[in-house]
Amino acid sequence: MLKPIKIKEDFYYVGVNDRTKALFENLWPLPKGVSYNSYVILDEKTALFDTVDICYSDIFFQKLDSALNGRSLDYLIINHMEPDHSGSIGLLKNRFPNIQIIGNKRTADMVKGFYNIDKDVTIIEDGSELLLGKHNLKFYLTPMVHWPETMMTYETTNKILFSGDAFGTFGTLDGGIIDAQLHPERYYDEMVRYYSNIVGKFGSPVQKALEKLSQLDLKYICSTHGPVWTLDDQIKKIVSIYNKLSKYEGDEGVVIAYGSMYGHTEQMAEVIAYELAQQGIKEIILHNVSKRSHSYIIRDIFKYKGLIVGSPTYNNKLYPEIEALLSKIENRDMKNRYFGYFGSFTWAGAAVKRLAEFADGSKFEIIGTPVEMKQAMTEDNYQACLALGKSMADRLKQDR
Ligand code: FEO
Repeated sequence: MLKPIKIKEDFYYVGVNDRTKALFENLWPLPKGVSYNSYVILDEKTALFDTVDICYSDIFFQKLDSALNGRSLDYLIINHMEPDHSGSIGLLKNRFPNIQIIGNKRTADMVKGFYNIDKDVTIIEDGSELLLGKHNLKFYLTPMVHWPETMMTYETTNKILFSGDAFGTFGTLDGGIIDAQLHPERYYDEMVRYYSNIVGKFGSPVQKALEKLSQLDLKYICSTHGPVWTLDDQIKKIVSIYNKLSKYEGDEGVVIAYGSMYGHTEQMAEVIAYELAQQGIKEIILHNVSKRSHSYIIRDIFKYKGLIVGSPTYNNKLYPEIEALLSKIENRDMKNRYFGYFGSFTWAGAAVKRLAEFADGSKFEIIGTPVEMKQAMTEDNYQACLALGKSMADRLKQDR
């Protein structure tokens, strides 16, 4: 039988790693896998915090049974109902028929809808508390981080925050599960990718949640994905990552996302990038939208203040992969970006016109003069690309 991992006296990790799934939510690549974290506290009463994806329920129950060591499970605390965490609730209820399920009003609706469970569900309010014995739990409703029922549970005795998806990362836990046991830097970029891909639309609710949490002394942050954060500097670091991302604040740098069929639009991107570098911008990331998963492009758009998009005209519209990327950007309600654009065509231009519509509808500051190229690079096009690169660099440097 598999064993749980002890985090502290009476407090165990019973989560699992997924190294099989190719795409999270069937959308976002998982080259380093992902963990589904679940935790248990053993006190006068026993409590489980979230479950795991049903595909891993066998491993999960082995660990849980081993942690309980013959005891029954009194409470399931549900911080989030997305099935990567709620998937094993039905099986859990069969195993522990008398378990009390703790969640908010919206949780209860989803527990009934997904798992047809409406008995023994206790509905808590923001600020409600539950005493397990030595360990006391306090519940904080944090709606829309990133579903309406999302909440966090704070264990007041040892100052443990069960944060749901918040502060989560892609990437499995390979041996060590606590930040002190591993190189936490390895997870930072995957935290940004997780946030930007999954939570990115909900900056304002995340800000409200951070405001609520700011009053708490945090010694442990136990997310549903990625490491358990325990070191003071790491807790500060990940809270600051979330704060920055949810305010849509970027660092100095430029993402140039382009589509290109035969290389002409790509040449424009190269010239713009060349001038950015000439002007002293060091973080310049070119993404070929057909080759690079949009997951990483979105991550980088969240990281950097500058965004330049280039597209050929395709069937009198934007290049399809650029259209798809713009839709992802719009969907995340991106703000606070400097935006430039360019495009190309062979016999009738449409891409730049459509990019102009996107720019007008965005909350971005439009930078420079858009460049539109017919067929292949002319000296005028070349100079116009340099000018666009220089305008972006100048704007970025004003913020230094
Ligand atoms: Fe990890 Fe929103 O589920």
